[in-house]
Amino acid sequence: MVIQGYPNPGEGLRLHLNENTGGCSARVLEAIRRVRPSDVSTYPSYGDAVIATARHFGVDPDWVLLTNGLDEGILMAAVGHIARARIHDAENIIPLPAFDPYPNSTAAVGATAIRIPPGPEFAFPTDAVIAAITPRTRMIFLNTPNNPTGQLIAIADLKRISEAAPKAVILIDEAYIEFGGTSFLPELPRFRNVLVGRTFSKAYGLAGLRVGIVIGHPDVLDPVRAVTLPFNINGVALAALDAALDDTEFLPRYAAAVRESRERLYEACRRLGLRYWPSAANYVLVRVGEAAPFVAALAARKIHVRDRSKDPVTPGCIRITAGIVEHTEAAIEALESVVAAGTRSAP
Ligand SMILES: Cc1ncc(COP(=O)(O)O)c(C=O)c1O
Repeated sequence: MVIQGYPNPGEGLRLHLNENTGGCSARVLEAIRRVRPSDVSTYPSYGDAVIATARHFGVDPDWVLLTNGLDEGILMAAVGHIARARIHDAENIIPLPAFDPYPNSTAAVGATAIRIPPGPEFAFPTDAVIAAITPRTRMIFLNTPNNPTGQLIAIADLKRISEAAPKAVILIDEAYIEFGGTSFLPELPRFRNVLVGRTFSKAYGLAGLRVGIVIGHPDVLDPVRAVTLPFNINGVALAALDAALDDTEFLPRYAAAVRESRERLYEACRRLGLRYWPSAANYVLVRVGEAAPFVAALAARKIHVRDRSKDPVTPGCIRITAGIVEHTEAAIEALESVVAAGTRSAP
C-alpha cells in the first residue's frame, strides 16, 4: 500500500527532516487561537502578508511570491519557466548532492537534469557548473547552505554562475541561510535572472503550516506567479506567518542553539572517530560506514536521523538535525551507545 507523504518514524526525537526541534514561537500559537470563523470560511487575501514579508526581506512587494512551502516554489519555478514556455529541450543543471525536488520538478516539466558532482570534501564545483551551461540550459539550482552537506557557495561564485547564464533562471535555495552564510538578497537587484527561495519551515518552525517564499525581479518572478494557484496558502498559515515575523527574538535564540548543537555534534564525532563535515545549517552530515543498521540502531533508541547512504555522492552517511541543545545531547548519548555496541563498520 502506498500512503501519501513521508513515512512517520514513530515515537522519538525527529532529527531526520531538519525541522525546528523546539517547535514554533508561542506568539504563533496565540495568533492561531485568535483565528476567527470568517478567516476560515473565506478565501485568504495575501496583500498584507506579502507587504509584511517584503518589508522583512527588504524588497518590493512585487518581488515576492508566497508559496505553499518552498517545495511549491521550486516546482512552480520549473512549471513557469519551462512547461508554460513550452520549451521541449530544456536542460536544468543540478549540482550534487541535491534536494530531491530539483530533479523531481525537472522531470515533471519534461526537462533533462544535468547533474554535476561535487569537488573533494563537497567543495562547490563552480567551474564544472559554468562549463555545463549550454544554449538549452533553462534552470540552475544552487543550494546554499547545501542539504545535506551544510557547505556554502561563495557569493562570488553565485554571481559568476548567474552572469555566465543570462538566459537561464538561477534558483538560489537559501532554506537554511538563517543558520549560517550570507544571503544573496542584497545582490538581487543586479540580477534579473535570479530567484532566491526562502522558507519559514526551518528557523521559524512553521514546517507543518507550509509557507515559503520566492523573491526576484518581476521579469523572472512573474512567469512563476502566472502558474501558481491563486489560493495556495491557507488562512491559518497567514495568521501564523504574521506572528512569526513579529517575534524578532525567536529566530536569533534558535540560531544560537543550533550553533551550539553543531559544535557539540562535532565534538562527539571527533570523540567517537566518526567523519563529519562542518555545517552552516541546522544539521550535520556524518559518515558512519554501514548506514542502514546504524540508523535502525539509533531509531531503536528513539532517535530518528536521515539515512543519506543511498545517494552515491554521500556513501555511508547519515544526516542529523541540530536543534535545541538538550535534544542534541540525547542524540549524542544514542550515538555513543550505538558506537559502543559496535553497530558500525569502518567509515
Ligand atoms: C534545501 C531545501 N530547500 C527547500 C526545502 C523546502 O522546504 P519547505 O517546502 O518546507 O518550505 C527544504 C526542506 O527540507 C530543503 O531542504
